[in-house]
Amino acid sequence: MRITVIGSLAMDQTAEMDVFPSDGQTVMGNAVRYSPGGKGNNQCVAAARLSGNVEMVGMIGSDANGRELRSLLRAEGIADRFVFSCDLPTGMAQIQVNGSGQNRICVVPSANHAFGFGDLDRADEAIRESGIVLLQMELRNDVTFEAVRRAKKYGKTVIFNPAPASGLPDELYPMIDYLTPNETELSVLTGLPAETPEQIAAAAAVLRKRGTGNVIVTCGARGVYADAENFCGFSEGFRVHAVDTVAAGDCFNGALAAGLSEGMSLADALRFANAAGALSVQRKGAVPSLPNRADVDSFLRAHARVEHI
Ligand code: RIB
Repeated sequence: MRITVIGSLAMDQTAEMDVFPSDGQTVMGNAVRYSPGGKGNNQCVAAARLSGNVEMVGMIGSDANGRELRSLLRAEGIADRFVFSCDLPTGMAQIQVNGSGQNRICVVPSANHAFGFGDLDRADEAIRESGIVLLQMELRNDVTFEAVRRAKKYGKTVIFNPAPASGLPDELYPMIDYLTPNETELSVLTGLPAETPEQIAAAAAVLRKRGTGNVIVTCGARGVYADAENFCGFSEGFRVHAVDTVAAGDCFNGALAAGLSEGMSLADALRFANAAGALSVQRKGAVPSLPNRADVDSFLRAHARVEHI
């Protein structure tokens, strides 16, 4: 089953430092790296490395970063016929990573926000030919919401990663089969606290009541909480040493799409995606951190089941 990702492509500039600067402070960094990123691109590459039949839809600039991103898609075997080019610069993200592997990210969308309704029309075939459509919130919201409507109209499975989070129109929730916020995004979507397990469960239930098919909350090292059609509960994460959590959520979403596209049960797809995420946090960068299928399969073989939903 083909996975179509409609979303952002960006080049990441990452500075490593021991501690984040506070307002008005300058700190000395340890290293700077450039690597491909953008939540859409990351999720697309994650899915491609894990399953194979993947298409990207989005916008890049006619510049060196755009050319590098297109080369990456092709090298990963990702269909790029509806990755358009425009005169704006390719999107960029400035990322800070501290000594604990935590990150802060500022995305400058540039070309990503030039992707409009006409481009969605041109990419209609990609939506119709896919089984799963995976979206995030780094394109223009109005265009992203229209992409969800079209995917649902064509009867596709919609996975929606509300990142970076802003409000969703009420009419959208029933069109989403899998909504995948992290705790912060869950709080933004519901206006409720989402820190303790009880708070997360209560907030996820609110999103289910709005009509969402399944709500999957990614909780970092704690694993995921699912308020799903057939079960509710936590699936514990794998305990690993995290050096860089950039794109861990993207890796999870791409892996979830890959698992579901192969017909895995939701519980198995969540375990598969948790394993992929656990591998990604042990490596630096966004795209460079995304594991391949052999890595994930051998990680799963090496780790006894911690907890089954
Ligand atoms: O989720 C991580 C990604 O967010 C980075 O690659 C950066 O490009 C931003 O989009």
